[in-house]
Amino acid sequence: MANFSVAIDGPAGAGKSTLAKAAAKELGFVYVDTGAIYRTVGLAARRAGIARDDESGVNALLPELSVDIIYIDGVQHMLLGGEDVTDQIRTPEMSDYASNVSAMPAVRAYLMDMQRQMAEKYNVIMDGRDIGTVVLPHASLKVFLTAAVEKRAARRHLELREKGIDTSFEEVLTEMRVRDERDSNRAAAPLKAAEDAVILDTGDMTLEESIQALLALIRAERWEGATV
Ligand code: DC
Repeated sequence: MANFSVAIDGPAGAGKSTLAKAAAKELGFVYVDTGAIYRTVGLAARRAGIARDDESGVNALLPELSVDIIYIDGVQHMLLGGEDVTDQIRTPEMSDYASNVSAMPAVRAYLMDMQRQMAEKYNVIMDGRDIGTVVLPHASLKVFLTAAVEKRAARRHLELREKGIDTSFEEVLTEMRVRDERDSNRAAAPLKAAEDAVILDTGDMTLEESIQALLALIRAERWEGATV
């Protein structure tokens, strides 16, 4: 593989996007948030009035879909039919939609090329659930980020409140447990660490410590010079 690629997988709220974004900025890599792509398909389904567990309905929608990733000032934006839906995909309802549609094999196949093309074009830090196991099995470095579910829920709760989304900690915790369960137990590309992934538990680390830990792993891999 010509480019350097970092695959970051892990459960919801483990800090994947915050850490990946910070590390990408520091290293001049492109950050690819693959959850946002599934969320965009989820939004398309909801707009079309398709229930989130209606697999044949979602499958029928795929050929008409136009989903694109663009970068504005280095920030990933999602386009649905040319409309910027970056903010609209960040609600708890869209988390659920994304979790459901991402369990559908046709949806995963539909989005595979888009993700792989990013890694062919750029040095990437890509986060998701199956990046190290399925999307980029030959990634230069694979990291599985994790933390206890209560800690992840507390972080996500704070994040939602900062965005003005009013929800209780218990609601977020329950939603996160359900999502963990669904993401980990589905047949199609379940959430799991790749055999050659480095496990990074950020539960007892500050944000800055977690970023430094991730950067240290990436730098160590680059210095070994195996792929660059
Ligand atoms: O990371 P996130 O919360 O934005 O992801 C939304 C949902 O999409 C999540 O429940 C699992 C799914 N997903 C996936 O199945 N594979 C990915 N590579 C990324 C996300």
